[in-house]
Amino acid sequence: MASIITVATPKGGSGKTTISIILAGELSNQGFKTLIIDTDKQQSAIRWHQKTLSNNSRQENLEVLASTEPSKIVSLLDENSHFDVIIVDTAGFADQLTFALSSITDLLVIPCKISSFDGDQVIAFVNQLRELTAKDNKEMPKYKVVLNEYDPITKNSKSLENVYKSFIEHNISVSDVLMQKRERVKTITEGTGSLYLLKGKDDATVNAQTNSRNLAYDLLNN
Ligand SMILES: Nc1ncnc2c1ncn2[C@@H]1O[C@H](COP(=O)(O)OP(=O)(O)OP(=O)(O)O)[C@@H](O)[C@H]1O
Ligand SMILES: [Mg+2]
Repeated sequence: MASIITVATPKGGSGKTTISIILAGELSNQGFKTLIIDTDKQQSAIRWHQKTLSNNSRQENLEVLASTEPSKIVSLLDENSHFDVIIVDTAGFADQLTFALSSITDLLVIPCKISSFDGDQVIAFVNQLRELTAKDNKEMPKYKVVLNEYDPITKNSKSLENVYKSFIEHNISVSDVLMQKRERVKTITEGTGSLYLLKGKDDATVNAQTNSRNLAYDLLNN
């Protein structure tokens, strides 16, 4: 049975595809047979994967399939249960799909930029999911918010403090590992198979790998 990770946000552009690609790179590098299901009509993950192939930068153990028809996703998950991990990269505001998958999702990952606007939308999203699942007598899926595009220079900023404060107030589970805004992450999403296929062993590469490894560890082991 594959573990199912759904990556969803209450708004677009928070880093779902990026986090999906980074997590997939981490897990496949550790030897897990990993599949990304791209549910976005724009096919960002599919196009990324094709670029990695034409760049000769294919990540071993990693495949990407498209499924833009929500009603077909559950059967596609079934057909691919021989993978160790399936990451569902949702598109835009994916409340319906997230809810539809809530009972079979082992982990829901919610990327969030560090601003009160984004944080408040995440709180509303989690609360909506709590209500919908309770109404249906379903269990709320295990989930974690990932603060993304973090810049260490803002370590003591009001925005970070406020976001954490509201998350605690609303009992929102948030990863201890923040994903930094990184040029190396961009290099991957521009068409390299994973952080482990980067040639150099410079600090920026090693730091990006460490960040990605710590994030995957925190998400999957806590
Ligand atoms: N940690 C990061 N470091 C550098 N750039 C990032 C990071 N996370 C996201 N980005 C950039 O932010 C932009 C939006 O990210 P992404 O496409 O992953 O968001 P999304 O939630 O999948 O959007 P959509 O809802 O449109 O599918 C992209 O240009 C991506 O490269
Ligand atoms: Mg996307």
